[in-house]
Amino acid sequence: MTRLFVTGDTHGETDWHKLNTKKFPEQKALTKDDYVIILGDFGGVWGLDKSDKYLQSNYSNRKFTTLFIDGNHENHDALDSYPVTEWHGGKIHKLTDSLFHLMRGQVFELGGKTLFTMGGAHSSDIEDRKEGVTWWPREMPSLEEYEEAVSNLEKHGGQVDYILTHCAPEMTLLSMGMPKMPYRNPNELTGFFDTLTQTIKFKGWYFGHYHNESDFGKYHLLYNRVVELTEE
Ligand SMILES: [Fe+2]
Repeated sequence: MTRLFVTGDTHGETDWHKLNTKKFPEQKALTKDDYVIILGDFGGVWGLDKSDKYLQSNYSNRKFTTLFIDGNHENHDALDSYPVTEWHGGKIHKLTDSLFHLMRGQVFELGGKTLFTMGGAHSSDIEDRKEGVTWWPREMPSLEEYEEAVSNLEKHGGQVDYILTHCAPEMTLLSMGMPKMPYRNPNELTGFFDTLTQTIKFKGWYFGHYHNESDFGKYHLLYNRVVELTEE
């Protein structure tokens, strides 16, 4: 049976320790038909250099298949340059044979579960970053990506098992007691997710971005936890 796991930001090698065999021993029993999904800030498509190659081949050599949604800290222009492939009902960028980027606004059917994916987030540290080098405007979704999200959710009758995003609905963050500025800005994406909380039926919503762990009802903020998606 296919198993699905989700975890928070990895930031290249900086925070990938959560997926080593000591902290994530379950991986010993996994196969390429099992999936670990990183909830953005993957960081393995960045400088287009040796470090990217090392990260990508390291993930590819693991026993499981690695999937990720994009965060704000990705080289979005480089991600956009990969050819788009249809896979399990949604669109992906295939980085290697077992390392895929799950694109925005897609619904995937995987291991008998439906997953809605919508990466992207607003960077709160734009001033310290350089456009095209450490920051890309494509960190936020385009109008087409919002429209595709709405249309794909409609095709699935407004219902999925899991919602996987990098940032979170504004209302959820407030419920989790997370302070606003200077750590984050309410924006069109967190507002869009607010709408989805009212219009879409789902069992669980998992997100990263805020570098913390928190649970509020069906909403789960992950950083270093690796959580298996089972029926809630
Ligand atoms: Fe991050």
